[in-house]
Formats: sequence, C-alpha cells, structure tokens
Amino acid sequence: MKLAIMGAMPEEIAPILQRIGTYTTSEYAGNKYYEASYKDVDLVIAYSKIGKVFSTLTATTMIEHFGAQRLLFSGVAGAISASLKVGDLIVATKLTQHDLDITAFGHPYGYVPEGSVFVEADKEMIELSKIVANEMGKTIQEGIIATGDQFVADEARKNWIGKTFSADALEMEGASVAVVCDALDVPFFILRAISDAADMDASFSFDEFLETSAVESAEFVMKMVDKLVR
Ligand code: ADE
Repeated sequence: MKLAIMGAMPEEIAPILQRIGTYTTSEYAGNKYYEASYKDVDLVIAYSKIGKVFSTLTATTMIEHFGAQRLLFSGVAGAISASLKVGDLIVATKLTQHDLDITAFGHPYGYVPEGSVFVEADKEMIELSKIVANEMGKTIQEGIIATGDQFVADEARKNWIGKTFSADALEMEGASVAVVCDALDVPFFILRAISDAADMDASFSFDEFLETSAVESAEFVMKMVDKLVR
C-alpha cells in the first residue's frame, strides 16, 4: 500500500518528516516529494504550497505520478464554529469550495454543472479517527470544512461561509484535494487543527499558533497512519 501524507505549508509536514526520520527527496512539477518506507508501507509526503491550484497539482501528482492509494491531509484551519478553539482538531466529513460562485446562472454557491457542492471524505478513516482520538485521550470534532483562495480575516465573511454551507472551519486546500481524490477514486482524510478564528485578529493568531497547531494535527495523522499500516 502507498499512502500520501500532504500539507500545504512546510510547517505542516515538518513534524511528519521528523517522525519518519529517513526519506528520499525528489522533485516533480516544481515541488519536492519525500518518499519513505514505514512499517511495511510506502509513504509519499509533500507540502503543496497554499491554495486550491497548488493543492490540486500536488494531490494529483501524489496519486498519478507516485501511485498513492490513500491520502491523508494534515494542517491548520480557521474556526467558524464557536466550539472550536485554537489547537482543537476538526475532521472533515465533507468539503466545499466557498469561493466558487456561478449563482448568476441560478446555481447554488459552491456548485458548477457536473460537480457537487460537497465532497464526502472516506467514512472508514473517519471511523478510525474516533478510535485514534479515544486511544490518545483527545477530543475531535467532525464537521464541514469550507475551502477558498482567501485567508479569511473578517467576521462577516466567516459568518456568511458558516451560514451558507453550515461549515465549521475554513482553510485553503481541503476541498480541492477532495475533488481530486473523489475523481480518481482515492479514499481521503482531512484533518485540521485550529490556528485562528478567521476574524480581524486571524493573521496574528495564525502566525502565533501555526507551528503548535500543525504539530497537533501531524501527531494525530501519524497515529492514523500507524493504525492504517497495521
Ligand atoms: N487557514 C488557517 N486559518 C485560515 C483562515 N483564517 N483563512 C483561510 N485559511 C486558513
């Protein structure tokens, strides 16, 4: 089995590479990919760079070029739900693109013809995450993640995204990765640790908590990997 572990920023995969220890590095399509064998499975690890386009490229590359059969994403997100605080973990049940808008043609937000507003994550890995959370003594929240090519630092925009999609958290890559995995029939799991509340203080909070929240997420994802390889 070959697993892909993906983040968007170097900080999001650094704790994973540190834990793996030994890996080889190659370059493809302007990005670095790290390969390792870990407890009988092959891993390909990469950060995509920020946003939907780069994350689409990286997810596609991991699957089509490196042969990944499952994908786990680890990173940080802005909270929408008031119950999510900095450092809390959210597992995506389904994902949507909050900035996809052809409502001028009578379509709902997040929809284009032959697509769908939401893409569902792999149910088996979501179930597995509950077992992992239990074993780690951690609380995880399941919810809807909204993705867009915007760093949201605005209460009104955040509330609109929350209301329009019933979304609990927002970030900049999850839904594009979901679309790729869904189209290529690769089960995927998207985990985020909260770095900010997507409000006017978001950029300061993000800078302060990116690293610690990225570690929270990465540690959980590695525990998921440990379970999957067993
Ligand atoms: N990732 C983490 N925080 C975010 C925010 N406020 N907006 C978009 N992506 C994020």
